[in-house]
Order: sequence, then structure tokens, then C-alpha cells
Amino acid sequence: MALVRTYGCQQNVADSEKLRGQLQEMGFAFTEQEEEADLILFNTCAVRENAEFRVYGNVGNLKALKRQKPSLIIGVCGCMMEQEHVAEKIRQSYPYVSLVFGTHVVHKLPELLYQTLTSGKRVFSRGDDSEDKTIVEGLPIHRDRDIRAWLTVMYGCDNFCTYCIVPYVRGREKSRKPGDILAEFKSLVEAGYKEITLLGQNVNSYGKGLEEQVDFSDLLNLLCTVPGDYHIRFMTSHPKDASFKLIDTIAAQPKICKHLHLPVQCGSDRLLVQMNRHYTVEHYLELIEYARKKVPGITFSSDIIVGFPGETEEDFQKTLELVQKVGYMQLFTFIYSKRTGTKAADMPDPTPRKEKTDRMTRLLKVQDDIAMALVKAQVGQTVRVLVEGYGRNEGTLSGRLDNNLTVEFEADSALMGSYAMVRLTGARATVLLGELVES
Ligand code: SAH
Ligand code: SF4
Ligand code: F3S
Repeated sequence: MALVRTYGCQQNVADSEKLRGQLQEMGFAFTEQEEEADLILFNTCAVRENAEFRVYGNVGNLKALKRQKPSLIIGVCGCMMEQEHVAEKIRQSYPYVSLVFGTHVVHKLPELLYQTLTSGKRVFSRGDDSEDKTIVEGLPIHRDRDIRAWLTVMYGCDNFCTYCIVPYVRGREKSRKPGDILAEFKSLVEAGYKEITLLGQNVNSYGKGLEEQVDFSDLLNLLCTVPGDYHIRFMTSHPKDASFKLIDTIAAQPKICKHLHLPVQCGSDRLLVQMNRHYTVEHYLELIEYARKKVPGITFSSDIIVGFPGETEEDFQKTLELVQKVGYMQLFTFIYSKRTGTKAADMPDPTPRKEKTDRMTRLLKVQDDIAMALVKAQVGQTVRVLVEGYGRNEGTLSGRLDNNLTVEFEADSALMGSYAMVRLTGARATVLLGELVES
């Protein structure tokens, strides 16, 4: 039996589905119980320090299990392992980890596992320059869920935001061919998936380097030609590449959710330069305004970094102002975490931790009030939702709106996995409550 545990973003979730797919073909069944497993694989994330700490802690906890069961194979893979100093730390401090590999060699799992089993030696593998350039198509995928699916349209990132480790651990941007994406998309629709989320670190630069002249809007339009009952989400859009054409496409295609995740990171132009983000607050707000005009009812979400090196109270106030101006439905907030090897790691960072956590608390308070007001403002509408799970109360189901909010309503569980029309009648914190209108 194999246990694959995933840390980090949807890219890693999608990679884990490929790891499981390959393991399944090799004859493995899956478990969530460490004691039952013959193989434990941690697919790791390097984006912030606390993500890394969790992995070290959890790998450390396996020491006793390995002692009891020497045949257990412990492997760590994913973004953390593409950093040389991390792989070295595993080599030195965790001798019972016998398989270590990075994001560029996910497709080599069978070979690497075979080596581990037969050589009696520990196996370490990271992508080399040649592998960095190729996309391996056709890997088996063992999907975690049956209503929502992830579909990677591009790998890597070329943006080198100064705080971010992703370009170092995921390599350069590579787009999949539209034909390959379309084929996978069709197979998902045919298999009955209702929500398909297109993934990439920067989907708006999709198409760069491909022979065909195709951009992300073209890809969306192509996918929307596939007949069927489904909807499309995508992430992540970088504001420097998010185009008016993209917004027009969202407006024109009913199958695309009327929601845009557009991470702004901060509201100070001075810091946006320091972050190497290549847009101004003014441009960002122009995109938001255009989207509001063209796509009635559209909602936004964003990522914010608090406490970037050199962030002053004045910079932070500008972030608060921006957050208030846009009115995000959801905000993912992070305290800056220094990543070895990035540019920002060398920038002076005099702000005390206490000041940063204090700013975070203030930001969360502002956002809470905004989200509550936006949720309340939804009440009274009738919306189409995809029924995905059970609600908190007996006899209720839950579904998600275009804007990612959840609504709970009384209904028969036979509706699971289908669309339903729900009238929004109230809210419990940020969860909407509603009643079924028709299905
Ligand atoms: N490619 C996406 C997401 C990248 S990682 C994008 O550009 O938006 C997700 C989020 O983690 C980022 O948007 C950023 O807000 C946050 N993040 C990345 N590096 C970080 C760091 N060193 N410290 C704190 N937050 C970070
Ligand atoms: Fe990181 Fe910036 Fe690339 Fe996003 S766009 S993955 S934040 S470098
Ligand atoms: Fe983490 Fe890698 Fe994603 S570093 S955020 S899992 S691309």
C-alpha cells in the first residue's frame, strides 16, 4: 500500500495525482494510515518557511515507524527537493529517507522506485537542463475527486518575483500543446467532471514558446467548444499579463466562472517595483474596473504579502486602501517569508516580526468586514450551484457559487454532483444559506 501526502498548491496536488497514477499502474493500492503503508511519499512545498518546517517535522515523525518496519520505503519529492541545500539536509539528517526527487522527474517515479528497491542505496534525483525543456504527456492520473478536476496547462514560471522560490524549484515556463489540453479536457467532460480548473503559475502567459500562435483566451475559447454540462475555473492570473481580451472572454463564455483570482501582493507602487511585479496599482485597478463593467456580478480574490522587506507603515496603508477599494470576496494573506536564493533574501528587512503580525491582524480585520458585507449582499439572489458535498445540518447539501462561496440548503442527496438552482436566504458567517428552487 502507498501513502502520498501533498503539501502546497494545486500544482502539487496535480503532480500527486500523477504520482498516484503511476503507483496504481505498478499495482499499489492507497491508504491514509502511515502504519499500513509500504511506501510513504511526501510531495513537498517550498513557498514559505512554515511549509518546510511541517515537512521536516512529519518526516522526523516517521523515524520510529521505519525502525519497527525496516521494509518501509520513505520518499520525499516536490518543490523542496529541487533546492540543493534541502536535498543535502535530507541526506545528512534523515538517513532513513531512501528516495528523494524533484518536480522535474515526476514521470520517472517507477524507475526511481525500482532503483531504490534493487540497488540497496539511497536514490537522489533532480531535473537536469535537458529534462527542463520537455513536457511528458500521457502519464496515468489517479484523480482525487470525481466532480472537480485539475488540468495543468503550463508548468514553471519565468517571472522571478523577488520573494518567490517557485521559478527556482519549478523551472522555466512551458506550455502544453492546445491539442493535448483539449484531449484531456474532453476526456474529463466525458467522464462526468463538472468543474475543471486550469492550472499554471501564470496562465496569462500561456502559449509562449509554442509553435502555434495561441494565447490563454484562445485556449479558453477552444475548450468552451466542447459540448457538455460543466464549468471552467483557472488560476493563477498575473496582473501584468491579464489582458482585456481575457476579461472579454470571461464575459462572452457562459461556461467560465465569473470570478477572477488576481493576486496583487501589495498596494504600494514602490514595493511592487521591489517585488519585480511589473504593474502599478493604477493598472491593476483599471483591470478590475474593466472586469466590473464587462462582467456584471464578477467577484475577485487575491493574495497579499504583509511585511515584505522594507515595507513601511505608509506602504501597508496603501495595501489596506487597495483592499478596501477592490472589495475582495476572498483574500489569501501571508507574512513575508525569506527564501534562500531569492533576491529579496538579500534586502534589508528591519521591520520587527511583531509589527508584521500586527499589520496582518489589521488587514484580516478589514477583510473580514468586507467579506461579511459582500456575503450579505448576495442574499436574495437565485444562483446556479454545483452540488458537491453535505452541509453542516442534517439533510442539507452544499454547493459552490461562481465566486467560490459555499451555500447550504435542504435537498435530497441524489442531487450530488449535479447543478441546482438555489435562492439565497441568509448567511452563517461567510457560508450562505439557501433553498432549492429547481434542479
Ligand atoms: N503564481 C502565483 C502563486 C504563487 S505562490 C502568483 O503569482 O500569484 C502563492 C502565493 O504565495 C503568492 O501569490 C504570494 O502571495 C505567496 N508567496 C510567495 N512567496 C512568498 C514568500 N516568500 N513569503 C510569503 N508569501 C509568499
Ligand atoms: Fe512566484 Fe511570481 Fe511566479 Fe507567482 S508569478 S510563481 S509569485 S515568481
Ligand atoms: Fe509550493 Fe511548489 Fe506550489 S513551492 S506553492 S507547491 S509550486
